[in-house]
Amino acid sequence: MPQNYPATSLSDNFLLTGGIYHSQNQAYNDWFEKQYSRNEEPWNYSHRGGEIFRHKFTIQQLREFCPHPCALLELGCGSGLMTAKLASFTSKLYAADVSLSAVKACKQKCDPVARKHNCEIEYYVTTTPGLPFNDGSFDTVTLCDGLLGWWFTEEQKQAALKDTYRALQKGGYIILTDYTTADHFADYIKLVNQSAFKIVKITYLHDRPWYLLESLAKKLPFKSLLKPIVASPHLAKLLHYSGRIIGPTSSRHIIIVARKE
Ligand SMILES: C[S@@+](CC[C@H](N)C(=O)[O-])C[C@H]1O[C@@H](n2cnc3c(N)ncnc32)[C@H](O)[C@@H]1O
Repeated sequence: MPQNYPATSLSDNFLLTGGIYHSQNQAYNDWFEKQYSRNEEPWNYSHRGGEIFRHKFTIQQLREFCPHPCALLELGCGSGLMTAKLASFTSKLYAADVSLSAVKACKQKCDPVARKHNCEIEYYVTTTPGLPFNDGSFDTVTLCDGLLGWWFTEEQKQAALKDTYRALQKGGYIILTDYTTADHFADYIKLVNQSAFKIVKITYLHDRPWYLLESLAKKLPFKSLLKPIVASPHLAKLLHYSGRIIGPTSSRHIIIVARKE
């Protein structure tokens, strides 16, 4: 795996402001920016055990193949909850999102973590397709929650995978996760199989019981007393292992690790 690989080929449209690279011309979906400009954490992930456990579980799957990435691109970094975890075992991290407010929050959260772990982080407002990076720039890419929500048509999703494939080096890995229902898992696998990536592992996060628990907790009286239960990643882990007995129907997340051959 290359050290100090030259990752960027930024055009004149890209500006560096406040430590964040962002494009002047690309028209991004502003729905996400609107969410982050109202609330730094639109999905409240850091208070939801199921999401905290999802990040841990995803990283565990990734590290089976990429224990210590040298150049990791995180697409859809949001306000940096998973970025902070990735920084602890990666030497150079590229955190990217379509929302400038999200990337600002990510930078604020992750710069101190990066210093602590001796990881260098660059921040980008960008997306795939349209990545401002040279071919083969990364040994690892994460694209988590994810393709299904970002792009509507099959053509857009394939174009996103194609551009990400281009930016990954030969022998590099991508991890893709998405929130959907069990009857759509086969379509998701087909989507990745139709790209140039070669799938090396498919896993399911058995988190449906946790989401049911969360919605039940919202309906019950004394909601605030139930907050620590909903926030517990340990309970989410326990529910995941119990759900595993049932199989993919107990899942709301599919996790795919794929390789550029
Ligand atoms: C549901 S959040 C997931 C955040 C994080 N990846 C995770 O797994 O917890 C989706 C994130 O993707 C970002 N996003 C949406 N469309 C995108 C795109 N086309 N390219 C890159 N990021 C995008 C959103 O701004 C948001 O931060």
